Amino acid sequence: MEVIVVESEAEMARIAADAVEHLVESTEFPVLGLATGSSPLPVYTDLIERHRSRGLSFAGTTMFLLDEYAGLARDHPQSFATFIRDRFSGHVDVRPESVHGPDGDAADLAAACVRYESQIVDAGGIDLQLLGIGSEGHIGFNELASSLSSRTRLKTLTDRTRSDNARFFDVAEGVPRHALTQGIGTILEARHIVLLASGSSKSIAIERAVEGPVTAMVPASALQLHPHVTVIVDDLAASRLRHADYYRAAYRDKPPWQRI
Ligand code: F6R
Repeated sequence: MEVIVVESEAEMARIAADAVEHLVESTEFPVLGLATGSSPLPVYTDLIERHRSRGLSFAGTTMFLLDEYAGLARDHPQSFATFIRDRFSGHVDVRPESVHGPDGDAADLAAACVRYESQIVDAGGIDLQLLGIGSEGHIGFNELASSLSSRTRLKTLTDRTRSDNARFFDVAEGVPRHALTQGIGTILEARHIVLLASGSSKSIAIERAVEGPVTAMVPASALQLHPHVTVIVDDLAASRLRHADYYRAAYRDKPPWQRI
């Protein structure tokens, strides 16, 4: 795992957006994995700005969402499909039909999960997956005790996740109890994973994910098993890392062309 400790949100956004830009400029059919929530928003803003100011194009890009609330149709105001359209994909030139998410409103949710896995495979797999991390260490909606080899499936959200996400709903009770999420095994098949975390509320999860043992009780710790993971954290999210000085020095020593 490479850990990059940044001093500002803008720096975090720039580094992640550089990785996305490099992918879409250097790959014929780029496949981008997208997270919702607050963490990736500065990255999306930066990418929209690159699209507007110098024509960075997503016309050939396929996008896959990590997850979707069960029971919400794609066009529901609180669905992740709506979230990503309003905050990112709707502001760049990706074709709307190339932006995929699990079908949270399917009559047969299990079949929708299998279909989603096939769509990812048919697209050639995910080149770069952006991730946030839950305050208890989830990635996607793989809550504690998720199998480290899980595939896309229905999960029950923890009370903590529901209260963390209540800010996006008019009333806390409106947060669905279930979601469809790419599994940890699915996420680990992405060729490059970039995890973003900021603020002190993420410091325990980051400490456990990066420096703790690999355990299903901290789903993000499974990223230690992946050969190409970049964790970008601000000082607050990095505040409990015992080896933060080492991570800073290692990144400083890297020649610019080896940075993501
Ligand atoms: C979102 C997702 C979640 C979030 C995580 C952090 O699609 O799958 O894992 O990334 O809950 O959320 P924020 O960034 O809002 O703190």
